Amino acid sequence: MNVINLSEHNSVLNQFLREIRDVNIQKDPLRFRRNIERIGEFMAMEVSKKLDYQPVEVQTPLATATVNTISDQLVLATILRAGMPLHQGFLNVFDRADNAFLSAYRRVNGKGELEIVAEYMAAPAIDGKTLIVADPMLATGMSMEVGYLALLRHGTPKHAHLCCAIATPQAIESVRKTLNDSPDVTLWCAAIDPILNEKKYIVPGLGDAGDLCYGTKIHLSDR
Ligand code: URA
Repeated sequence: MNVINLSEHNSVLNQFLREIRDVNIQKDPLRFRRNIERIGEFMAMEVSKKLDYQPVEVQTPLATATVNTISDQLVLATILRAGMPLHQGFLNVFDRADNAFLSAYRRVNGKGELEIVAEYMAAPAIDGKTLIVADPMLATGMSMEVGYLALLRHGTPKHAHLCCAIATPQAIESVRKTLNDSPDVTLWCAAIDPILNEKKYIVPGLGDAGDLCYGTKIHLSDR
């Protein structure tokens, strides 16, 4: 599994990252969602450099031009709810792609361990296609792993690009192990942060991406 950390090179991506992390800026939900979307758009451009292309003849008003055009069939997938703006960023760029949506939730199992359970899934056939999974915060890696494995029920992709805004080193290693270090998977992130705290938040991170996008959720058990 190849890992690509886009902030290893300075670019405008750093500005989007700065704004989603900054407590004085991130509280504007419209700007927060748009910045996550812009990270998706930027990452999509980078992913596009790794896709397969074929020459296509195009008739212009004056002559014909040959344009190398993406030949991969793309499926964009995300995990509700925090993944939606990152997914939209990819869809803004890969506007002809098919789409897959999953829901997953965290629960503590009988052994007192945290686990992620995949629930709803609406997905097209994935066999032989290029799968892009958008999940902004790769904290433990569990939701990405559960989501990706659920998607495999719809076929084996030619290649999978697992895309997040911020990852932790332990999540990257967990995904690598769960996917048997597959050469057919590339993990993309905009930054790698060092710490996963006891509440499974990334530190320094940015807080709760879903809440910043869509408002604070409540847990029925807290009422
Ligand atoms: N999900 C988030 O939204 N933030 C984290 O830090 C970890 C998981």
